[in-house]
Amino acid sequence: MAAIVETRDLTKSFSGFRAVDGVSLAVEEGSIHAIIGPNGAGKTSLFNLLSGFIAPTSGSIAFCGRDITGMDAPRIARLGMVRSFQINSIFTHLSVLDNVKVALEARTDLPSRFWLPGTATKRLEPRALELLRDVGLEREHRLLAAQLPYGRKRALELAISLAPDPQILLLDEPTAGMATDDVGRISKLIGRIAAGRTVVLVEHNLSVVADLSQRITVMQRGKVLVEGTYEQVRSDQRVIDAYLGGGAGAHA
Ligand SMILES: Nc1ncnc2c1ncn2[C@@H]1O[C@H](COP(=O)(O)OP(=O)(O)OP(=O)(O)O)[C@@H](O)[C@H]1O
Ligand SMILES: [Mg+2]
Repeated sequence: MAAIVETRDLTKSFSGFRAVDGVSLAVEEGSIHAIIGPNGAGKTSLFNLLSGFIAPTSGSIAFCGRDITGMDAPRIARLGMVRSFQINSIFTHLSVLDNVKVALEARTDLPSRFWLPGTATKRLEPRALELLRDVGLEREHRLLAAQLPYGRKRALELAISLAPDPQILLLDEPTAGMATDDVGRISKLIGRIAAGRTVVLVEHNLSVVADLSQRITVMQRGKVLVEGTYEQVRSDQRVIDAYLGGGAGAHA
């Protein structure tokens, strides 16, 4: 298998507490790879390490065969690894369309700091609309982002994350807080946007994980507990124990 991302013994300590503890992970190119585990297992910290938002205490990270350990987030994003956040990354006072245009503008070499929606070139509009169509938001493109219901805001976040056309997209709990209808919609959407790229998905909703992912890594207390297919993972006694003891959404 060709690994697009590979970590070796990746460790992050916060004042002696190992949030990520010796994680060796290989993500296969073109796959959807889920990271699951109870609250506090270190999933978001692992994403922060991969995307360069925090630097590891020890261990290494390779992306497309290149050592990116210690590289900063903007540089890693430019190389093609982009993450979404658990928190909102939307400009609520801008229209849905302008949110995507800002994201598209940010990937050009222009100083995005000086970007003004009113003066934006029309040039970005077709691509922005295409991204909105991909996430099912084309009809709402003129609305203020603030007017979108929660589930649709998360769809807009996905469009924003896709603007730099990342090779690999790290999605942290894309269905968190969503009503069932929206969960189904976002899940389908993730399946669609995964065509032609790699997706790493942190997700508590195990039916979404089962539907989407080819490979699953289960984390517990900073470490990899088990790795395998959904069928392998769900029947593993260690996973069952971790979920029963760990309290995270255990409807496997
Ligand atoms: N900046 C930080 N400083 C100190 N401790 C931290 C920091 N970031 C995370 N931690 C701790 O590291 C552990 C792992 O946190 P992390 O957010 O990675 O877990 P998670 O698996 O994403 O959990 P959840 O499912 O609740 O999102 C937790 O105990 C958390 O309190
Ligand atoms: Mg988290």
